[in-house]
Amino acid sequence: MRIKSLQEYQEAYSLSVEKPEQFWADIANEFDWIKPFTKVLDWSFDDYSVKWFEDGQMNITANALDRHLKTIPDQAAIIYEPNEPGDEAITLTYRELHTRVCKFSNVLKAQGVNKGDRVCIYMPMIPELAIAVLACARIGAIHSVVFGGFSAQSISDRVNDSQCKLVITTDGAVRGNKTIPMKETVDDALLSCPCVETVIVKIRTKTPISMLKGRDLWWEEEEMQASGICAPEAMNAEDPLFILYTSGSTGKPKGVVHTCGGYMVYTAYTFANVFQYNLGDVFFCTADIGWITGHSYLVYGPLLNGAISVLFEGIPTYPDAGRFWDIIKRHQVNIFYTAPTAIRSLMGFGDAFLVGKDLSSLRVLGSVGEPINVEAWQWYDEKIGKGNCPIVDTWWQTETGGLMISPIAGITPLKPAFATLPLPGVQPILVDENGNEIEGNGVNGNLCIKYPWPSIIRTTYGDHERCKTTYFSTYPGLYFTGDGCMRDEDGYYRITGRVDDVMNISGHRIGTAEVENAINMHTGVIESAVVGYPHDVKGQGIYAYVICEHPTINDELTRKDILATVARVIGPIAKPDKIQFVTGLPKTRSGKIMRRILRKVAEGEFGSLGDTSTLLDPGVVDSIIKGAI
Ligand code: WT7
Repeated sequence: MRIKSLQEYQEAYSLSVEKPEQFWADIANEFDWIKPFTKVLDWSFDDYSVKWFEDGQMNITANALDRHLKTIPDQAAIIYEPNEPGDEAITLTYRELHTRVCKFSNVLKAQGVNKGDRVCIYMPMIPELAIAVLACARIGAIHSVVFGGFSAQSISDRVNDSQCKLVITTDGAVRGNKTIPMKETVDDALLSCPCVETVIVKIRTKTPISMLKGRDLWWEEEEMQASGICAPEAMNAEDPLFILYTSGSTGKPKGVVHTCGGYMVYTAYTFANVFQYNLGDVFFCTADIGWITGHSYLVYGPLLNGAISVLFEGIPTYPDAGRFWDIIKRHQVNIFYTAPTAIRSLMGFGDAFLVGKDLSSLRVLGSVGEPINVEAWQWYDEKIGKGNCPIVDTWWQTETGGLMISPIAGITPLKPAFATLPLPGVQPILVDENGNEIEGNGVNGNLCIKYPWPSIIRTTYGDHERCKTTYFSTYPGLYFTGDGCMRDEDGYYRITGRVDDVMNISGHRIGTAEVENAINMHTGVIESAVVGYPHDVKGQGIYAYVICEHPTINDELTRKDILATVARVIGPIAKPDKIQFVTGLPKTRSGKIMRRILRKVAEGEFGSLGDTSTLLDPGVVDSIIKGAI
């Protein structure tokens, strides 16, 4: 399954297009199956349904853990780097991780969690987060990890949408010099979640918390009593493995569903190839397990390959902006995978934090989550990679489960800021507004994929229609990514950003509608419109135009109140960077807000607003420009 040269990549790619079933069956057969599959693929993008390895049975943890016990039981699986640099790092070997996952699997079983039940995990970046995820997978429970920065309201929305019966959390969390309440937030969330029967709490901060009799249990006590033996549940390849909520252009976040077999095969394959992982290499992915990057390339992809994966609890700027570089030295990291926003932020602190840092262990660098600008790419290349480490700019999405368009480290010739070429099994096409394929090179269009790959989204939880309309109706017969893309003269792909109403704030996906709904919940707000605008560090910032009932009262205080409201409803990551109070919004006669105009104003481009003649009241635009910040 390992590609070792450009020619091998080209051969693999051709085979994956000409004989996709044979291509993926060969790779899938490298894993342990409880019952081998005989059918490889069944699919339709018209009436959306995709099934890979349909009649096979397996368990992803048997492949990520048990399989390695024969060969590398005492090798590190996870290295936990705590928030405080002075605190000892903790290594869990494959044997230790296996035992702890088995124990916690038994804890979940003892609480009546069965195959197919949903479990919500709301935890900071500690080893128990990975253990909780893997324990769910082992017993066939469907995990739904909610990023630790989300609000109580966001937790309860997600818990209710998928009817979770158990929640796993901690007393508190530490990030940099902040202590964050976790259990308290869960308690608030659960006031409106009658489906939850049990809460398991791991101690992290020794923060005083309330423990509800009959509902709340301590992780430590339960684990102590549990047996370390737990056979992996036989899962059908198409049984759901997890749900992960992500924002779209309309409505509340949707639960993206991934299934066991295809997700296993694809994340393992892409991890091994893109990063050119060699046994014994130390891999450091800085993403939180609350996002898809953490699921696929901190937990599952690395463990399926018997890799050593660093799990970092803190933030890149604590105690100072040299923290990542210290971790690289401390754990002799060979492969480092982070987001452009982190690179730009650290770049902004200047080179002083690089002085004396030994980065010589690095061999491969990766970037993910948003377009990387050339300047950041070059800094990453020169200052971190010392001109010696290929940078893999990996384009993918929560819905794709794994990397889609990306260089293969050391093999694909690079171009700064290009995701380069599709990985084997991925068939991208560019289309125009009418859905016509744009052929040839040196072109721009909307990025679609025309053939299924093993870890493609299967459904949006509880609402298959929504999955069909969101991804498969804009361009019939194609999966629409929501991204704009150029293909240059050499056939290289460069992702230019979202073409829908989804923003990408520091690599985090947030829908404009979601933020608007949150702002509109604030008393006195009549209406709002939110757009993304270019931001030096975050990639995009959030710009909100807000109409208030009483425009003359204290603007500054109202701004702060609105920020507090958004933080309460969604979480601090969704707080607008700029709020402009307006008296009207540019609407068409049919009442649709012309966001194009608002985007231009937010960018400071007042001269080229385009055609405004279809507006109900063109005068509104002048007053918005006058008030622009
Ligand atoms: C959106 C998906 C899956 C990684 C974490 C984000 C943007 C992602 C790149 C890249 C340019 C990128 C796209 C995509 N994106 N990677 N290498 N270059 N843009 O996952 O939250 O599902 O967001 O992130 O716009 O659609 P996500």
